[in-house]
Amino acid sequence: MDSYEIRGGTRLSGELRASGAKNAVLPILAASAMIPGETVLDHCPDLADVDNMCRILTHLGCRIRREGETLRVDASRLHCCSVPEELMKSLRSSVFLAGPLLSRCGQAILSTPGGCAIGKRPIDLHFLGLTALGASVTEREGRLFCRSGRLRGTEIRLDYPSVGATENILMAAASAVGETVLTNAAREPEIVDLQNFLNGCGAQISGAGTSVIRIRGTGKPLRSCRYRIMGDRVEGGTYLMAAAVTGGTVTVRDLDPVWLGAELAALERMGCRVERSLPGECEPFVAIRGPQALRSPGFVRAEPWPGFSTDLQSPLMALCTVAEGTTVIEDTVFENRFQCAGELRKLGAVIRVNGRRAEVTGTAPLAGTTVTSGDLRGGAALVLAGLAARGKTIVENICHTDRGYGKFDIVLKELGANIERRDVNERERRGETTGVSEE
Ligand code: UD1
Repeated sequence: MDSYEIRGGTRLSGELRASGAKNAVLPILAASAMIPGETVLDHCPDLADVDNMCRILTHLGCRIRREGETLRVDASRLHCCSVPEELMKSLRSSVFLAGPLLSRCGQAILSTPGGCAIGKRPIDLHFLGLTALGASVTEREGRLFCRSGRLRGTEIRLDYPSVGATENILMAAASAVGETVLTNAAREPEIVDLQNFLNGCGAQISGAGTSVIRIRGTGKPLRSCRYRIMGDRVEGGTYLMAAAVTGGTVTVRDLDPVWLGAELAALERMGCRVERSLPGECEPFVAIRGPQALRSPGFVRAEPWPGFSTDLQSPLMALCTVAEGTTVIEDTVFENRFQCAGELRKLGAVIRVNGRRAEVTGTAPLAGTTVTSGDLRGGAALVLAGLAARGKTIVENICHTDRGYGKFDIVLKELGANIERRDVNERERRGETTGVSEE
């Protein structure tokens, strides 16, 4: 179990380029399983979740080559439509294979996926959509057996704009016969990226980014294409917040400010100065200058896009712990996304959690100690708090941040942070482990 050792108090400054978006590349990698040829994906991030998705695709018979940021996925010899439970549990996005496998093979044998423990996270909406397209889904001993003849387009209304369900339905409907109209669809930018990729493969989809998506199923297999994955707005937003919490100045390139409207507005309310590229500019960027002292942004509600992102809610909480005044944060998306609050308290933060609401009263400065990350974005929040804290903060269990931030410590170090990655053996040698058991 590796950890980060951070000595807080340095202002970050410099520039970086956003990596390819984790939440865009995972469904697109899954979609490549339904293309009988080679898909070439540029700007792929180097993350544990991407490795795990590649492991699943390899198990299904795909041949995968990585050349730097480019992944080549050749699914022409896909010969299997069953994903073993252990691989399913390795990442939540394994559920994205349901639509593509049904479309390519007429069946998919899966089990309930893994992922962060941030709430119940059911997958009923995924399967409601796939059933509406003509699939049957039965569950036996924890395994999900999905079968279908020819998938047929239809009208589907989601009770909630689930990102994953929207994506699964888009993939399955793309090569179904006839038109699918999906209403109350999620509108996240990653769904637009999936639409653009699928259209590049010959699909006819319009409306992604709005609540109504039309998918004209051609009934034909999709064809190979080369596609560049969009920049990661959550990773980019995290680095902007890291700059803000240290009073630093950081520019993130390859990051469209439109993706972060609500988040940048909150950072401006906190006293940050934000500079951004104009709409349509070919080289999008966001630059931030943190103030001497952050102020509370007031009330922040995490909700589906274009609202404040639930993924950036925990990093924002870290900022609020040192911002003057009281902040109320509400998460309407996941019911259990305040897990990092307990660990932030160990650093001296004043946070009261009541159901889906947290009240954070700024106290400066935090004092470094040992904390444990319990989920991906909560782990990022602890790192940000460590950057602002006095003395040494050790963030343990960083396998979580590895799932969403490639070379987190190295990027932060390049921006001037005093952070080191320590492996468990090194810390044992130095007599520093706390004996927290691995998940
Ligand atoms: C995706 C993102 C995740 C982000 C989330 C919300 C990926 C790989 N992950 O997750 O980073 O935090 O969107 O922006 O893209 N729900 C149901 N039934 C379902 C599906 C979802 O009740 O079948 C509920 C969930 O429990 C949750 C809410 O809907 O409370 C939102 O989930 P969803 O939008 O599906 O998020 P994910 O696709 O899992």
